[in-house]
Amino acid sequence: MYFQNIIVFGTGYVGLVASACFANMGKSVVCTDNCIEKINALENHQIPIDEPQLPELLENAVKNQQLLFTINPEEYFEQADFFIIAVGTPSLADGSCDTSSVFAVAKQIGEKIVSSKVIIIKSTVPVGTGEQVENIVKAELQKRAIYDIEIFIVSNPEFLKEGSAIDDFLKPERIIIGVQCQEAYLKMKDLYKPLLDQGYQIIPMSIRSAELAKYAANAMLSMRISFMNEMSYLCEKAGANIEEIRLAIGSDMRIGKYFLKAGIGYGGSCFPKDNKALEFLGKKYDVPLSLISATIEANKNQQKIFLNKIIDFFEGGLNEKKISILGVAFKPNTNDTRHSPGLYFANELLKKGAHISLFDPLVTTKENNICLLKQETQNRFEISNSIENCTQNSSAIVLCTEWEEFQNLDFDFLSKNMCQKLFFDGRNQYTKKHAEKYGFTYISVGRP
Ligand code: UGA
Repeated sequence: MYFQNIIVFGTGYVGLVASACFANMGKSVVCTDNCIEKINALENHQIPIDEPQLPELLENAVKNQQLLFTINPEEYFEQADFFIIAVGTPSLADGSCDTSSVFAVAKQIGEKIVSSKVIIIKSTVPVGTGEQVENIVKAELQKRAIYDIEIFIVSNPEFLKEGSAIDDFLKPERIIIGVQCQEAYLKMKDLYKPLLDQGYQIIPMSIRSAELAKYAANAMLSMRISFMNEMSYLCEKAGANIEEIRLAIGSDMRIGKYFLKAGIGYGGSCFPKDNKALEFLGKKYDVPLSLISATIEANKNQQKIFLNKIIDFFEGGLNEKKISILGVAFKPNTNDTRHSPGLYFANELLKKGAHISLFDPLVTTKENNICLLKQETQNRFEISNSIENCTQNSSAIVLCTEWEEFQNLDFDFLSKNMCQKLFFDGRNQYTKKHAEKYGFTYISVGRP
């Protein structure tokens, strides 16, 4: 194997994790972003995301001179064999995927390279983006009258989950490689050799299939969650228990036990955005994707149903009531609050006049979403530094994220610390019996 040089574009979850992991596999990685503040921060060892193992891997790679951050990657283009595009692809107003950052990187590459390169698209992008990237790069080459170099476009979608991103990258359940020729496939096998040597498998396919596979995976996972969320409401009405239903159906090998937990709706940066983009893609090709639309709708409903349980409980209104929200990260082990149910409840309850006190083990006031909320609501919103402060003189707890810190709450203490004993458990972490032992009224999801 020859010594491989990689340039990674993007310092979000995918870009940073790929940079850290490839560098620790012994490759030479240059990681870049068009945001100078992000690059400056990374050069000063400040990592913008909280992800287990990431700081250690980045630190190690930088120390061993396997990784550097720069705002000017062009000077490294000629030595580089692989260009990995891992920039953001947010939703546009119509729900479609904004690929402008991907295309900007393609142009930047095309403007400068003078020899054959592999261009890997890791960002989640709609079907056909690979071809568009190839066209952009080739058009730039033509402008410089370069016709004789080969460009290998690869779709290599990333399936990592926030909170376990490093493990997902280094112990992948699958490595999807979309290519249009055998030579590109062999180059990708070389890139992933350290993982293939450990027995991990590449699944080769066409670029278009690889692009769609990523959306299909997220759609399937979120569809399962929405299905269980709809079932949970039926359970409540019909006197059944969603946890029992989950065990019953999850033990069927054909169904499998994962991603069947009902709750207060899925959040995060991926499922909401990717489902909208997939729905848009269906419209573009005139293919009705009714299940995707229903999944999106069911997710919204699930949050509203739980919100109404809280509002309905306070018949006299929420004015002056202090409500404690436990967990505002969209799931445990991350400080990401994008599309977070906790933030949704905070916002909606504030609109009803409540005072919100919020505690999350990782999310701080520095986080953008929180900063905004604080500015808008002034003294009716606070972010607490402990569960104790968060629940002091509070009328209700709303548990929104299943952090380990919330799994053994001291109910005896809470019952004395709060002025009203109400527990809304959006993640079914406790039982009615347990909460009632301490005098709490307990409301959860899909259980009698
Ligand atoms: C998701 C996918 O799981 C990854 O495979 C994919 O690579 C990633 O999106 C992406 O596209 O980049 P992530 O958004 O990090 O990963 O988080 P998940 O662990 O999938 O959780 C998403 C949401 O579903 C969370 O709000 C979680 O609380 C919720 N969820 C998950 C449930 O409500 N029930 C479940 O049973 C599982």
